[in-house]
Formats: sequence, structure tokens, C-alpha cells
Amino acid sequence: MKNNLFVGKVQHAFDVLPSTNDYALELLAKSEPAEGTVILADNQTAGRGQYGSRWYSAPGENLLLSVILYPHWLLPVHQWLLSEAMSLAVRDAVAAVSGKPALIKWPNDVYLDGRKTAGILIQSSLNGSHIQHVVVGIGLNVNQCRFPADVPHATSLALACGHLFDRGAVLETLLEATEHRYLQLRNGSEAAIRQAYRSHLMGLGQCQTFARPNGQRFEGTPIDVLPDGRLLVRTEKGQETYEVKEIIWILEN
Ligand code: BTN
Repeated sequence: MKNNLFVGKVQHAFDVLPSTNDYALELLAKSEPAEGTVILADNQTAGRGQYGSRWYSAPGENLLLSVILYPHWLLPVHQWLLSEAMSLAVRDAVAAVSGKPALIKWPNDVYLDGRKTAGILIQSSLNGSHIQHVVVGIGLNVNQCRFPADVPHATSLALACGHLFDRGAVLETLLEATEHRYLQLRNGSEAAIRQAYRSHLMGLGQCQTFARPNGQRFEGTPIDVLPDGRLLVRTEKGQETYEVKEIIWILEN
């Protein structure tokens, strides 16, 4: 991480952990790790995804990491901006190493060729009206070429590009992008983050199929993401806003 000031300067690397996010949270509970400390694992036995799901990754083939950040300067009501910045960082890195137009699928998945290449799990701890710490967990599929049947829309850099990647080089690009977008946010360039997030958003302005948590499907056109992260969708009933847990974005095939 020769070009970075703090992200990745301290790294704890393991062959196997239950979850790099859990390890980072344990570290935070008993010490004060430097900002930008990275926890890496070649394999996770209890990798966690969003909304209580599991994150599966073939051992030694991908990147599984957590970055510890202290955005004390960010008000909890503006937390969504950090999610946008981190999504952009992973997107930027995936686009840079693949040479392909990587997109963000709302809220914070990164897609290549219409398939998920990376997922992000952000866990924040609040202290009164301030953010105490944030753990940004990133799972990036690098060299895995076979995925279980119950993970239908997954891909990796290798599958999308037709050749294997040096995981160390991908990590370096990813950590540089992470620091760049984090500093951009810290320096007050919120408008640039918002604009960049929207410009790389999948399906914006295009009719998509969604489902409500009760399974009922509907068609709608995502037209914006609001400052609090809600998706604004134009449907036959007019404009509706949805929080992440209120809507499922259905991908065909
Ligand atoms: C998602 O559901 O899309 C988010 C997946 C996040 C997975 C990463 S892998 C490294 C870190 N440790 C975890 O347990 N989860 C995150």
C-alpha cells in the first residue's frame, strides 16, 4: 500500500477466521487499532452477508477483508454517504483491474456483466450522537470460477476477464481506492460522491422487476437514491420510496 497514508498500513492476515468483520469488532472491543487497520482472511467459516445472510467464498481464491475506520466527523444521519463512498471504492477498484464498466447495484453490491462480483457489509457503532467506529467488510470474488447453484448471479474478476488475477495486486488497488474515496468524503466532497455513485448505478432510469417482502412482484423504474439511501422508484402508482429491507430487486436468468 505504498501510495496510502493509513488504509492498509497495518494488516492482520489469517489463513482462516470465522469472519473478518467479527474479528475487527473483537479487536475494537479490547484495543484501539489504528485507523485503516485491515483484517484479511483466506477463508471464513462464518462469513456474514447483508441482512443476516451468509457469505460463501472458496478458500484462497478471493479477497475477504475488513477495514477499520473512525469517521467521527460524520453525523449518524449522514451514514449513507459512507456507504456510497465505500461502494464507489470497490467499484473503482473492480473497474480498474478488470478494465470493464463495473456497476453498483443499489444499495452496495458491485456487478460485472450483470453479475455480482463483490459485496459490502458495513457495521457501525454509535456513541451518543457520534459514530464511534465503522467496520467495512468487503468480499471480492477474484479467482473463483465455480459458484454453488444457490448463488445464481455471482461472478469473479477471473470469470469476467478470462484470466486469473494476482490477489495481492487487486488488494493494493482496492485499498488505494478505499482511502481515496474515504478522504474525498472527509474533505467535504459530498456532491462528488453522490454524483459518482449515481453515475455508476445499475438500472437507473430503466424499467426493473422488484418484489415486496411478501413476494408480490411489480415493475418500476429507479430514478434516484435519496440522501438517506432510500430508492426512489417510479411505478404505475406514481413515485414511491423504499428502504433496503422493503424491496427486493429481481434479476432475470
Ligand atoms: C453482501 O451480503 O453482499 C455483503 C457481503 C460481505 C462479505 C464480507 S467478506 C469479509 C467480511 N467479513 C464478513 O463476515 N463479511 C464481510
